[in-house]
Amino acid sequence: MARNDQTLIGKPRRISSKFALSEEAVVYSGDCMDLLSKIPDGTLQLVVTSPPYNIGKEYEKRLHLDSYLAQQERVIAECVRALSPKGSICWQVGNYVERGAIVPLDTVLFPLFSGLGLKMRNRIIWHFEHGLHCNRRFSGRYETIIWFTKTDDYVFNLDPVRVPQKYPGKKYFKGPKAGQYSCNPLGKNPGDLWVIPNVKNNHVEKTGHPCQFPVELVERFVLSLTNQGDWVFDPFLGTGTSVIAAIRHGRRGGGAEIFPEYARLARERVRQEMEGTLQTRPMDRPVYDPAAAGNSLRLAPWERDAGQMTLLEEELPYGKGGNK
Ligand SMILES: C[S@@+](CC[C@H](N)C(=O)[O-])C[C@H]1O[C@@H](n2cnc3c(N)ncnc32)[C@H](O)[C@@H]1O
Repeated sequence: MARNDQTLIGKPRRISSKFALSEEAVVYSGDCMDLLSKIPDGTLQLVVTSPPYNIGKEYEKRLHLDSYLAQQERVIAECVRALSPKGSICWQVGNYVERGAIVPLDTVLFPLFSGLGLKMRNRIIWHFEHGLHCNRRFSGRYETIIWFTKTDDYVFNLDPVRVPQKYPGKKYFKGPKAGQYSCNPLGKNPGDLWVIPNVKNNHVEKTGHPCQFPVELVERFVLSLTNQGDWVFDPFLGTGTSVIAAIRHGRRGGGAEIFPEYARLARERVRQEMEGTLQTRPMDRPVYDPAAAGNSLRLAPWERDAGQMTLLEEELPYGKGGNK
């Protein structure tokens, strides 16, 4: 991506550490409640985040589930206050786990959002291939993103996020449109099951943070739920992914990160994005398929060796059990 020194608002690019409506990018090092208190009512077009899941990651103190939910409710209420009437909130969560028993966090967070008058538009399943291998239950290979709007009059731009059809060449075979292509040439609605690789060790975006969003995941929300110049906000910013996705598409991005080292990482990545040097996985790249790529590790050694043994067996002529 080429370096772009000017923002959409025609000012030199910079990353501010404080919120101001005139800024393009804000990375606040501290508690999200402090930053939210500086944001006027109705400012944010999109709040997109992955909060701590309260599972004892290095950046969180494990709380009783009720205390965790009370904490989340305070942040959510502030986000709703700062949300524009046409705005959206997307909360990406997995499971809270207590001695092997799971509580899907979206199920316990839903009442908090609906209690604040928000309307749910989708519960998106984010499916990925990599993660912990469980021994006493099936390994978790999805998390969810619950999308709420403040009102019924909300921004939703489908065209920028359409994906290729399965059969783009398909035509109507009868009726007045017979012979014409039956699908939208811009592609189809991506649906509510998103298959996007998670950021594990060999992902190009991996930093020292234990659970980053992939940039492409947030880009889909930025493009569909906001317009140019709108504010995108992440209260639990981590490595700055939401701000990166926002400014990449001509929006403004802001967020708070309580750990100074992650806030430093976020600033560094946003700076690289501004310079056009940040490496990310492109939105339209298909998920790697080792079989299609001809990866030799696809063949298990025991199967390969068994095949070899068959080849070395002496062929018998027809009529004696052979095939020649
Ligand atoms: C699941 S991670 C988010 C990662 C982020 N989506 C990314 O792509 O890097 C949650 C982050 O919230 C931060 N955090 C926890 N409590 C916070 C608070 N009260 N205010 C701001 N950040 C907080 C944690 O340090 C952690 O980096």
